[in-house]
Amino acid sequence: MPLIVRNASTLTQFLIEQRRRHPEASGDFNALILDVSRACKAIAKTVAYGALTDMLGKQPAARSAGQVNVQGEVQQQLDVLSNEVFISMNERGGCLAGMASEEMEAPYPIAAPHARGKYLLVFDPLDGSSNIDVNVSVGSIFSVLRAPALVREGATLTEADFLQAGTQQVAAGYALYGPSTMLVLTVGTGVHGFTLDPVMGEFMLTHPAMRVPEDTQEFAINASNARFWEAPVKRYVDECLAGRTGVRGKDFNMRWIASMVAEAHRILMRGGVFMYPRDTKDASKPGRLRLLYEANPVGWIMEQAGGRASTGRENVLQVQPSGLHQRIGLVFGSKNEVERIERYHAEPQRVADSHTPLFAERSLFRD
Ligand code: AHG
Ligand code: MN
Ligand code: MN
Repeated sequence: MPLIVRNASTLTQFLIEQRRRHPEASGDFNALILDVSRACKAIAKTVAYGALTDMLGKQPAARSAGQVNVQGEVQQQLDVLSNEVFISMNERGGCLAGMASEEMEAPYPIAAPHARGKYLLVFDPLDGSSNIDVNVSVGSIFSVLRAPALVREGATLTEADFLQAGTQQVAAGYALYGPSTMLVLTVGTGVHGFTLDPVMGEFMLTHPAMRVPEDTQEFAINASNARFWEAPVKRYVDECLAGRTGVRGKDFNMRWIASMVAEAHRILMRGGVFMYPRDTKDASKPGRLRLLYEANPVGWIMEQAGGRASTGRENVLQVQPSGLHQRIGLVFGSKNEVERIERYHAEPQRVADSHTPLFAERSLFRD
């Protein structure tokens, strides 16, 4: 039994309080969020067993699921299991018309004997799954959209039903499986963080009204991709690295966890900017992260917390999706830094850039 358990609202109490703003609400929405939170609790428990589950690792081959997902990435057993947990915890609540996931090529329709509801759930069941084997934080990310009327009434669910801009989300959140398990949620009234009480199995409101500081001295980017970055990103990173004696006039710190959900959480707690920008590494992939179940939910959380999320060229929430698993360049975090990066993208590329010392020979990240 822990020594201190803070007296706080449970997630259920929080949702009931939010519902008072919508007297007409049926309660389905709250039921859906609670089903999602139950999936996250189940995944948290499984992940916490680590190697004891005998489900870690890509090798030996027998211990890996051995499949690649629609992204062409090797699925870990825990990717597949987490996907199954999300489906089984959410298909019987009567709140959903369908689901879509990083781990499934096609949408998953809700079919008899389960009743169809009015929402769509999109998720990345396990984000940062390359970190599982090394016991570093991973998480789940989810987004809730409204289902088109015909689909609610039983019409065939198609990919097109999910192709809604991030501005259409009605809920977005993530669970972080770290030293403590947290659920961070927005339903459009700010961002609220809940910590899982492992004894009671309840998410408790520990971080109400989270805000991202507008300024920061911390950035996160996978620097091994530097040779593929576009000029505005190179410029921004070079200026950060130049530190106190450079144009920014201050030193910056750098972090890279390779688990976006953990980076998003750090940024929510203390500010920062995260970049996985569009680059020239692979012409078929205009970015690494997926729009519908990574960029949009995290983007709305950032915006609701006073931060910003962008492709570098526009607010990511305004992008009209063209595919269920579409990838996109993503920059998010402290507002003033994201806006600066957008300004660099908007400025005409100066030929002179390639002659400035920070940009050419002296850049740490040059070939
Ligand atoms: P996923 O495990 O769902 O495929 O997502 C991993 C993502 C993201 O969480 C992280 O920021 C990024 O991939 C890491 O990419 P690198 O391996 O290039 O660092
Ligand atoms: Mn992911
Ligand atoms: Mn994933």
